Amino acid sequence: MLDRFIVFEGLDGAGTTTQSTELVRRLRAIGSSCDHDCEPTEGILGTQIRRVLRGEESLHPCTLALLFAADRHEHLHAVENGVVSRIEAGRTIVSDRYVYSSLAYQGVACGGEFVDRANSGFPHPQLLFFLDVPVSVCLERITDRGAAELFEKEHFLTAVAERYAEVIDRAERDGAVVHRLDGARPADSIAEEVWRIVAETPIVSM
Ligand code: TYD
Repeated sequence: MLDRFIVFEGLDGAGTTTQSTELVRRLRAIGSSCDHDCEPTEGILGTQIRRVLRGEESLHPCTLALLFAADRHEHLHAVENGVVSRIEAGRTIVSDRYVYSSLAYQGVACGGEFVDRANSGFPHPQLLFFLDVPVSVCLERITDRGAAELFEKEHFLTAVAERYAEVIDRAERDGAVVHRLDGARPADSIAEEVWRIVAETPIVSM
């Protein structure tokens, strides 16, 4: 488990970006040195992934799964700026998505075994927030946003939702500290709940 590493997961439209942004704002407001990261990252591999997601390039789904895993490896272990070295330097990292996204999304196209193998060895975060939102609500939010990416199709999201539930349960059985939040509520009330949980967690709240 990686101390001071906090992850938000959920379907497209579940609110991971809103909630991770708000948590970082609150942590900084109390003087915590805190970074807001995301996966796919803004690095060279993450940039290529986003091109595929936008439909500008095409890759075999399992090649894409490997690329997500490679991007994640760099995110964690980049020598100067990886999550691990920033945590060692005393920072708190809040990440919008992590390994559980790969297990859920890429699991649909590539199968669980393939993505498990590609993603073995990534540690659990200290806190894992899963924003639980029905597919129908996610689809409404995505449509409002107007940008339909490769993964934002109804049948696909339904399959991802089923896998996510299994993946999050498995993480919990494996010892991860999981908080499932009803993400269909107003963003403010979710942010309050997140903040209560973070404030009760040793190290993070310091
Ligand atoms: P995200 O950045 O949350 O979307 P947005 O464009 O709204 O900011 O995530 C991009 C997409 O990538 C999202 O559909 C989930 C998907 N994804 C995977 O399929 N596998 C992964 O390992 C990760 C991290 C994301």
